Amino acid sequence: MLTEKIWMKNKNNLTNLVRGGINRTSFSETSESIFLTSGFVYDTAEEAEKSFKEEKERFMYSRFGNPTVDIFQKRMASLEGAEACWATSSGMSALFTILMSYLQKGDRVVSGKALFGSCHYIITEILPKFGIEIELVDGSDLNQWESALKKKTKIVFFETPSNPCLEIVDIKSVSKLAHKNGARVVVDNVFATPILQKPLELGADIIMYSATKHIDGQGRVLGGAILSDEDFCKNVVKPFIKNTGPSISPFNAWVLLKGLETLDLRVKKQVENTKEVLKFLKKNKNIKKIYYPFDENFDQYTLAKKQMKGGGTILSFELLSKKNLEKTTAFKFLNNLNLIDISNNLGDSKTLITHPYTTTHHRLSKNEKNELGISENMVRLSVGLEEVDDIINDIDSAIKKAYAK
Ligand SMILES: Cc1ncc(COP(=O)(O)O)c(C=O)c1O
Repeated sequence: MLTEKIWMKNKNNLTNLVRGGINRTSFSETSESIFLTSGFVYDTAEEAEKSFKEEKERFMYSRFGNPTVDIFQKRMASLEGAEACWATSSGMSALFTILMSYLQKGDRVVSGKALFGSCHYIITEILPKFGIEIELVDGSDLNQWESALKKKTKIVFFETPSNPCLEIVDIKSVSKLAHKNGARVVVDNVFATPILQKPLELGADIIMYSATKHIDGQGRVLGGAILSDEDFCKNVVKPFIKNTGPSISPFNAWVLLKGLETLDLRVKKQVENTKEVLKFLKKNKNIKKIYYPFDENFDQYTLAKKQMKGGGTILSFELLSKKNLEKTTAFKFLNNLNLIDISNNLGDSKTLITHPYTTTHHRLSKNEKNELGISENMVRLSVGLEEVDDIINDIDSAIKKAYAK
């Protein structure tokens, strides 16, 4: 009871990262227990009947309810100050669930076009198959949002900062435009993390996370989360998940609970490391362009400062290269790294790097990549928790080797 009280009092407070949602068993364990069970038993046939009729609230089957998952959901909701949270098996299943549970044939979605490859696939390839109209806009241009939102729209979706060019969308202004039109605003808050940006406070309606990223942050499990008002979670998301099954495993929910306990510490330290890496890159003559929201030279620096508490743990940069040698130069640099791992994951305690053109965004056409600014000489760096000098020395030495005659 005491822990429940602490959680209630400290809505949207860091105490929730450690204690939110705790529901101890009669053994009074310190750490949250893992309920690795698919089902639950009923004392009587009558109790089972009542449960299925929803006359009695209790755990019935882990596809749509499990005590460990429940703690994770409550912890996430309390951290965001959201009324409710529903956990999913991955970030992509969180987005897919939001869209497929709410939309129907004839509905319209307006989305920022700077999207992670799989988000782009769902919006541009899957939704149209079900008779859903889509329009992609330049997320940084409020005029484009305004004109797209003149037509009746059900969902507005965007990532901010976006993957991999860190484009910022003005959450407050786009939410106002969307609400005038009756649309619900869904924000992919993966790059910002729950620590650095609070979309619900800025007017958004729904947040989605790939909990695989910073929330685990140690490269162990996949997971996702949907945060919204109680009505959306209970009446739209729950029946969809209950009947279609993109549910999170209780083991993964437990790992993510442990991840949440150190999320604030890890993110803050990773931001500090990223700032040091940025300083180094800015001075290096072989770096052509840097994308980082809190870099004074970044196009959307002012907006980023207004809506984020920190610039994040990810930055992208372009390497100087001769014409037609862009990919060769980037690959030479990547292949000469020693400490930093080539991996398409991000938000990890290990520093990871990828070449978005040929990995996370390879499916986009050349034109689409050009339009989004994803060039062959660009790499995306997710800065981890190693000694920052080791990270910088590794980048420095790989650049030197890549440009050696
Ligand atoms: C911005 C963004 N959204 C969603 C996802 C998908 O998350 P998951 O891999 O957990 O499905 C990713 C994964 O890289 C991402 O970068």
